[in-house]
Amino acid sequence: MRPEIILGEPGLESRRINLQRRIVAQFRKPHGLAGTLAGWIMANRASNIARNKWTVGLLSLAPGARVLEIGCGPGIGLDAVLSAAADTHVTGLDHSELMITKAAKRHANALKFCRLELVCGELTNLQSGQGFNAIFSCNVLQFVDDRKVFLTLAHNHLKTGGQFVTTYQPRGQCASADEGRSWISQFAEDLCQAGFTDVDVQERNFGKMPAFCAIAMR
Ligand SMILES: C[S@@+](CC[C@H](N)C(=O)[O-])C[C@H]1O[C@@H](n2cnc3c(N)ncnc32)[C@H](O)[C@@H]1O
Repeated sequence: MRPEIILGEPGLESRRINLQRRIVAQFRKPHGLAGTLAGWIMANRASNIARNKWTVGLLSLAPGARVLEIGCGPGIGLDAVLSAAADTHVTGLDHSELMITKAAKRHANALKFCRLELVCGELTNLQSGQGFNAIFSCNVLQFVDDRKVFLTLAHNHLKTGGQFVTTYQPRGQCASADEGRSWISQFAEDLCQAGFTDVDVQERNFGKMPAFCAIAMR
């Protein structure tokens, strides 16, 4: 007799993994109602605000600096740049229309006074050779598929002497400080390969999990 195959409901473990994937997708490219919730978490979680402040604090911003934030989300990093100096100009780039709308609402004044430009898209969508003094991101570059292409573009968008800063904090149930350390050290190596100089790595605790930052110069 052939054994009977019973197709039951997906197990608890596969449902958990599925749910986790859907949550991560909302931080990769927020959209719809769940994306609004993800944006709210980014804008209100104290550790996220602190992480963005720390990252922006690592930028050496001279008066009149032109700054690019990649993956600005609802605009927490933009807050930190706009309040760092009165004459800084910042471009916020995000491929999520929803996040660009949230950032525009949050920073209506900066848009009105032309201190801020918001672009919906990816680095490839920016006009080449923008000559930024600084480019930064916070918990974004783990989502970039082709890092080599990305870093070459970022290098081209910086002025000579410009600064590149990226922060990564492992998230989720399987996150660990070791994973963060290994991610950032690979990233630092990739920065060197892409022609960046003075590459440095920093680590800081935010709650239970440290955040890791790579700093480099063009
Ligand atoms: C985890 S959120 C972090 C948002 C913000 N940096 C913060 O710390 O609050 C990642 C953001 O990067 C954006 N993003 C991811 N990959 C991107 C890419 N290749 N180009 C532009 N934006 C990207 C997502 O849409 C999302 O808003």
